[in-house]
This record gives sequence, structure tokens and C-alpha cells, in this order.
Amino acid sequence: MNVLIFGASGSAGGSVLRACFSSSAVKEVRAITRRPLRFTHKKLRVFIHDDYLDYAPVEEAFTNVDACLFCLGISATQVSGEEYRRITHDFTLAAARTLLLHSPNATFHFISGKGTNLNSHFMWARVKAETERDLISLVNAVCWRPAFIDGESSNSSPRLYRILRPALRLLKPFRSLYVNGQDLGRAMLRATGENIRGRIIENAEIRDLANHFPRM
Ligand SMILES: NC(=O)c1ccc[n+]([C@@H]2O[C@H](COP(=O)([O-])OP(=O)(O)OC[C@H]3O[C@@H](n4cnc5c(N)ncnc54)[C@H](OP(=O)(O)O)[C@@H]3O)[C@@H](O)[C@H]2O)c1
Repeated sequence: MNVLIFGASGSAGGSVLRACFSSSAVKEVRAITRRPLRFTHKKLRVFIHDDYLDYAPVEEAFTNVDACLFCLGISATQVSGEEYRRITHDFTLAAARTLLLHSPNATFHFISGKGTNLNSHFMWARVKAETERDLISLVNAVCWRPAFIDGESSNSSPRLYRILRPALRLLKPFRSLYVNGQDLGRAMLRATGENIRGRIIENAEIRDLANHFPRM
């Protein structure tokens, strides 16, 4: 399959990308990113891009795609509420609309997160829930709700999160609280292969899906 990935320079996206590299099911990975990645790979094509509301300059990346793995995102602690909505909802929906135009049968995978809820007291949880709802009504979407993602090191994640990461790894035995980042990628690839669409998938099920995906 051909895969399009967003957020490959981040913690979750970096791990999802590695899962793509090691999967024989993936032929090519196209990464849309605002800065060069720290590594290269024979399957990887990088498209440097800066306007995440208009993908016209990189529309080639959206053609003949089987899955879009949307791992771009930001913590609500890092930006204003308005900017959080723009990045979380508007960037994502703009990518989904472009995908629909160029690869209408592709699956769009979106990482929301545990606690996502339209009626939440937390702004981030409502914005993520609205994004899930809008995606599912627009494209063949799968919305992933991981708890702690044990992913690659990332310069963009909040400092406190980077400090807490070793402690959060203690959550590994708890199926609803921890997922390995590459397992999240394997689960996305498996869901694509099995035509799973229009669904929200919580942490424990992510681990189940990954367990049944071939590692090479
Ligand atoms: N990490 C977790 O435990 C966890 C758990 C549940 C859900 N999630 C969700 O998973 C997603 C990814 O999280 P993460 O931990 O991987 O975050 P991260 O390490 O901070 O990575 C974020 C990625 O998004 C890109 N990005 C952020 N703002 C951008 C902007 N304005 N324009 C273009 N690119 C932008 C970053 O690019 P640069 O490298 O260029 O900054 C980076 O590639 C988020 O939506 C988060 O809510 C994460």
C-alpha cells in the first residue's frame, strides 16, 4: 500500500513511520512536514510544506494513496484555544478533503486521544470529538483514542511530558493506559488492510489489533 503521513517529526508520527518502514505491506510512504526529517529511508518521500489549510502545492502526495496517517497535533497547553482548534480541527479536515479529492477510497486515520468527548469540560476533548465527528461524516475515517503513546523522542512535545515519559512507561501492563507507538502504526496498517472504517478505537483495542499484525 501507499501511505501518506503527517506529523512524522513528532513522537507518535515518528513511531508510526517506523512501523511503515518495517512492514512489507507498505510500498511507499510520503511524509508532509514543515521541516526536513532527521533520517532517510528507501520507502520515504518527503514533501516540505507550510500551509496546512491549503495542500494544492503538494497534491501529488495525495494521489494513489491507500491510507493517510494523520499524526500531526499539538497539546492544548502549548497554544491558544483558537490556535488549538485551527491545528486540530481545521488542518485535519483540510487534509481529509484533499484526500477525498485525489484518493476517494483511502482510509483517513486520525489520532484523537483517551477522554475525547463532545460534552467534556475540557476544550481539547470537545475539539477532538468535533474533529472525529466531522471526519467520520466526510471520509472513510478511523479515529484512534490512545492513552499514553510510548513513541519517538520529539522536540515539539511539551517539556513536562518529556520529563514524565520514563514514569509513564510504568503503565505498560495496563491495556487501556499505554500503547507502544509502533504498535499504534501497526494497528493503523491492519485496519487499512481489513477495511475497518467509520469507527472510534480505544487503547485496549489498538493493542489487540497490533498484536495480530505481522512484524515484517
Ligand atoms: N503522545 C501521546 O501520548 C499522545 C496520546 C494521545 C493522543 N496524542 C495525540 O497524538 C498527536 C501527536 O502527538 P505527539 O505526542 O506525537 O506530538 P508531538 O511529538 O508534539 O508531534 C507533533 C507533530 O505535529 C506537528 N505539528 C504541530 N503543530 C504543527 C503546525 N502548526 N504545523 C505543522 N505541523 C505541526 C509537529 O511538527 P514539528 O516537528 O515541525 O513541530 C510534529 O510532527 C496529537 O494530536 C496528540 O494529541 C498523543
